[in-house]
Amino acid sequence: MIDTQLAKTRLDSIVEQLLTYFVGDALLLKKMLAAALTNSHILFEDYPGLGKTLLVKLFAKSTGCTFTRIQFTPDMLPADILGTRVWQPNLGSFETMRGPIFTQVLLADEINRATPRTQSALLEAMQENQVTIEGETHPLPRPFLVLATQNPIELEGTYPLPEAQLDRFAVQLSLGYPTTAEEEVTILKRRITWKTDDPSEFVQPVGDAADFVELQALVENSVYVDQAILEYITEIVRRTRDHPRVEVGVSPRGGMALMKLGRAFALVEGRDFVTPDDVKLLAADTFAHRTILRLEDALEDYPVRDVIEEVVSSVTVPTDYRRGSP
Ligand SMILES: Nc1ncnc2c1ncn2[C@@H]1O[C@H](COP(=O)(O)OP(=O)(O)OP(=O)(O)O)[C@@H](O)[C@H]1O
Ligand SMILES: [Mg+2]
Repeated sequence: MIDTQLAKTRLDSIVEQLLTYFVGDALLLKKMLAAALTNSHILFEDYPGLGKTLLVKLFAKSTGCTFTRIQFTPDMLPADILGTRVWQPNLGSFETMRGPIFTQVLLADEINRATPRTQSALLEAMQENQVTIEGETHPLPRPFLVLATQNPIELEGTYPLPEAQLDRFAVQLSLGYPTTAEEEVTILKRRITWKTDDPSEFVQPVGDAADFVELQALVENSVYVDQAILEYITEIVRRTRDHPRVEVGVSPRGGMALMKLGRAFALVEGRDFVTPDDVKLLAADTFAHRTILRLEDALEDYPVRDVIEEVVSSVTVPTDYRRGSP
């Protein structure tokens, strides 16, 4: 079993590999890594061309995981994702053809272009970590991580994910545009050096998929969450339900997602206990997509993240949360 320090070294190396090729915010990459460490799924809400495909490929490469990309379209059927049984005349039998979902890192591009039937086939598999193909159950690999993208501008011809399905994603993140002009110049300069749009082939893997699974186990087994932190998360969750702008607040599943992420993020930071700052930092990413505002606020596009931040700042922050504190 590895320890927290070794884990931190490995996780730092992954972030370093990502930042060698992807220009962006280290904090965002750490959040992504934390979600991956909880073996859960990420929804990216971003405009085209911001480096989503690049980042997910780099992530798969640097963790030694297999990678597949599915571009969702309205004519796609559940079997196109999950797989099917096909008659093999030369064998005289039906053989199972596994679909593209059987991968460790799955980039599900424009998930809202698929019909609800196909979306729910994917989301069900994500929830259960297994796939049923004509009555036969097949476990999905470990780790199994779906990074789905939605384009915030194009609504025509899309099927927005229902709230119940959004709840399946641990966090919703946005890469956003590069913050400074220097960053943008860096992207261009690196392209000249590498002579390719896809530098993921240059990535040095930091261990293999089994090593990543070991890190996931370390989060489950070694990162301490104090009762005070559990109460802090619970108070935030419950107050989202009472906020005057909120129609539907955060579910217990949402609270659980924040706890898991907090533990994973602690490990990314090289700690074996969760702090209130971990919770604060991740609350809006975890809760915004699980919160439905009242119609009048939703129509005015009132930012859900602001509501969550407001709730967070209204809750008393615990001070004793270390192992063995009273
Ligand atoms: N932050 C960034 N860092 C490094 N390269 C970037 C960044 N943003 C964009 N690029 C470069 O821009 C190109 C487009 O990126 P990519 O295909 O990953 O975007 P995308 O977000 O997946 O777009 P789409 O939504 O159309 O699929 C790539 O060549 C990528 O290397
Ligand atoms: Mg892309």
